[in-house]
Amino acid sequence: MANGDILKTDYPQTAGVKALYKVCVHLGCLYKWVPTNDRFECPCHGSKYLPTGIRVDGPARRNLDVFVIQAVDANGKVLDETKAEQGSLQGGAINITGATKLLINTGKRIVGAPNSRAGGGL
Ligand code: FES
Repeated sequence: MANGDILKTDYPQTAGVKALYKVCVHLGCLYKWVPTNDRFECPCHGSKYLPTGIRVDGPARRNLDVFVIQAVDANGKVLDETKAEQGSLQGGAINITGATKLLINTGKRIVGAPNSRAGGGL
């Protein structure tokens, strides 16, 4: 099984939207998207995260933090909202079907779930 297959099995992606807080959960550097590796990487000490914010390597010991998002329809009804607990993903993606706008609350951050599996989460 190739490395990418293991990641898909261990950390399946769900459809929807999430707002990642762009600060590494190790010591606070700004991580960057590295398209050639299809993941976020922190230039300071090498933590690595999947596009979903799941930690896969490095000294970081948990997944990335996320902001709370609300998917709102044309009448102002909240259709979905980021929840503090969504299994091991904690702050998972929300469904935006039918939404006309997304409200991102940058004052309300959900701390990423602990994820310190030896070998970088694999
Ligand atoms: S601050 Fe990102 S790996 Fe240390």
